[in-house]
Amino acid sequence: MMIDNTDQAEQELSPKIFLRYCDLIYDVAGIKLGAQKESLLKARVSKRMRALGMNCFEEYLSHIENDTSGTEIVELLNAISTNVTYFFRERAHFDVLGETLTKLYNAGQTSIRIWSAACSSGEEPYTMAIMVRESLPESADVKILATDISTKVLQRAKSGIFDYKSMEKMPDKYMSKYFTRITEADAVKYQASDSLRKLITFSRINLAKPPFAMRGPFDVVFCRNVMIYFDNEVRRGLLSEIERLLNPKGLLMVGHAESLSGMLSNMKSIRPSIYVK
Ligand SMILES: C[S@@+](CC[C@H](N)C(=O)[O-])C[C@H]1O[C@@H](n2cnc3c(N)ncnc32)[C@H](O)[C@@H]1O
Repeated sequence: MMIDNTDQAEQELSPKIFLRYCDLIYDVAGIKLGAQKESLLKARVSKRMRALGMNCFEEYLSHIENDTSGTEIVELLNAISTNVTYFFRERAHFDVLGETLTKLYNAGQTSIRIWSAACSSGEEPYTMAIMVRESLPESADVKILATDISTKVLQRAKSGIFDYKSMEKMPDKYMSKYFTRITEADAVKYQASDSLRKLITFSRINLAKPPFAMRGPFDVVFCRNVMIYFDNEVRRGLLSEIERLLNPKGLLMVGHAESLSGMLSNMKSIRPSIYVK
């Protein structure tokens, strides 16, 4: 996501107002913004304020707090979230996913459910969908749920249209098999095939506010590169909800930089960043 620094000099974000933004963002989304995030917040919020014709951080804060429709807080979260992602990120997780799908199918499991929690713009669930197509026959009953807090990234994910940049790590053979080159606003993009798209359902879920309105149970959950933004209290609440929603022997994949030691009561680590219930 680009950070636009224009106009910053014109506006003042006092330490007191910055802390009020931090508290609000933590209360709503569990995201901990440290003091080092002040200029990032300032740049991103300024952009949203300009779109609304506002130039005072306190005024915008009151605008969010008084917005009973709840749409402006979603705009704030859209503005501040970090959405970096790409196809086949942390490839080993997708290899394990492929092996697990084959194992479950061969053992006679008739339906398989997968969840991409914090899916960002969709590269993660679409990579899962490629693994499903590569591992199982078309008739297999597999569903992928892809969720995020940001409505902006969910909209992009639903479109199934990607820039080449996020596809660089994808093996070439999948590019031609599952994507069509298209032109959108004079730029070359890649559109995912219907065979991938029909496996995925998108929904907005705030991981900081369990319990989640979904039935589960899931066989595999990817919850990667999002817990780094949470403190231990939010992480614990989320992990116990994931444990609840997983099938016995279900797998949880987390980002390689995320250590969960001592936070999972019913799961054990089987490889770095992979846990089994
Ligand atoms: C860095 S991306 C990770 C994307 C993907 N899982 C991956 O590893 O490539 C982090 C995502 O977490 C989402 N996020 C942040 N706070 C969240 C929350 N409270 N609930 C759900 N999603 C959240 C952001 O909107 C963003 O899309």
